Amino acid sequence: MSFAGKNVLITGGVGFIGSNLARRLVREGANVTLLDSMLDEYGANLFNIKDIKDDVVLNFSDMRDEHSLRYLVRDKDYIFNLAGQVSHQDSMREPFMDMEVNTRAQLTLLETCRYYAPQTIIVFSSTRQIYGHPQYLPVDENHPLAPPDVNGINKLAAEHYHQLYTKVYGVRTVSLRLTNTYGPGQLIKNARQGFIGWFVNRAVTGETIQLFGTGEQLRDFNYVDDVVEAMCLAALHEDAYGDVFNLSGERASLKTVAETLIRLSGKGNLQIVPFPEERKKLTSEIFTAPVRR
Ligand SMILES: NC(=O)c1ccc[n+]([C@@H]2O[C@H](COP(=O)([O-])OP(=O)(O)OC[C@H]3O[C@@H](n4cnc5c(N)ncnc54)[C@H](O)[C@@H]3O)[C@@H](O)[C@H]2O)c1
Repeated sequence: MSFAGKNVLITGGVGFIGSNLARRLVREGANVTLLDSMLDEYGANLFNIKDIKDDVVLNFSDMRDEHSLRYLVRDKDYIFNLAGQVSHQDSMREPFMDMEVNTRAQLTLLETCRYYAPQTIIVFSSTRQIYGHPQYLPVDENHPLAPPDVNGINKLAAEHYHQLYTKVYGVRTVSLRLTNTYGPGQLIKNARQGFIGWFVNRAVTGETIQLFGTGEQLRDFNYVDDVVEAMCLAALHEDAYGDVFNLSGERASLKTVAETLIRLSGKGNLQIVPFPEERKKLTSEIFTAPVRR
């Protein structure tokens, strides 16, 4: 099975992962529509779709707007639902904004599909953040859920909504719990898309990468093409509908990642400092990258 000739909507399609997915689907011959609100602070960047801009339909709208959604979902065979607020720090500073985008907008999409696109299949990009601090490794899908921040709570709620709509209304959905993803199109101008982009920024500009604690904290990583592949597989496999899957990746310590980037760029340096008291409560805050406004 393939996406050739299929009508596909990607929410958050001008962002990092969405644009890589769009490129893959265009290559496969799908009719691709990208929905994106292009909010300044997030990962949307027209540069990401420069090479495919004539091969996709671009719709600049907000997923919270049910009216444009009604029009956009009607004829879609597949919806890759990637629109989201991705910054964990922002979610603590502006919890209502995070809830609006990561929970309310998701429910709006599901409600709209329930009435206007019951035929569609939705792949939702959830996050491994919802597990909180691991109680055992590797973290499997049965690991207890303990989101450590507002972002994790809102993403978990959205995941539950997707499952509920499959169970109760028969809207077919599958959720993938993504981990740290890297690759072309990644936001590096600030730390909002996680630490990898920020480390790259520091290494390329020759600045200090500062780590809290020991630097030995382990994280896992996926290259964006592998994430795109997983999303496509999930969409095409009926057995997956109604379920959730971890996308776990290669494991490395923060220190290893930072040292590798510094070595490759030939610039920058590493500084390891004690965890500041006020941040100890937030396990997601692992480094001191400022978020620029
Ligand atoms: N990048 C990662 O490491 C990672 C890890 C776990 C989960 N995820 C999830 O994957 C998805 C994609 O992440 P990304 O890394 O590509 O981030 P990104 O910021 O590049 O993409 C998100 C896109 O959603 C758009 N968007 C936000 N709110 C919107 C709204 N209300 N209406 C329409 N568009 C809206 C943004 O403009 C942006 O283009 C997100 O849902 C994120 O939570 C990503």
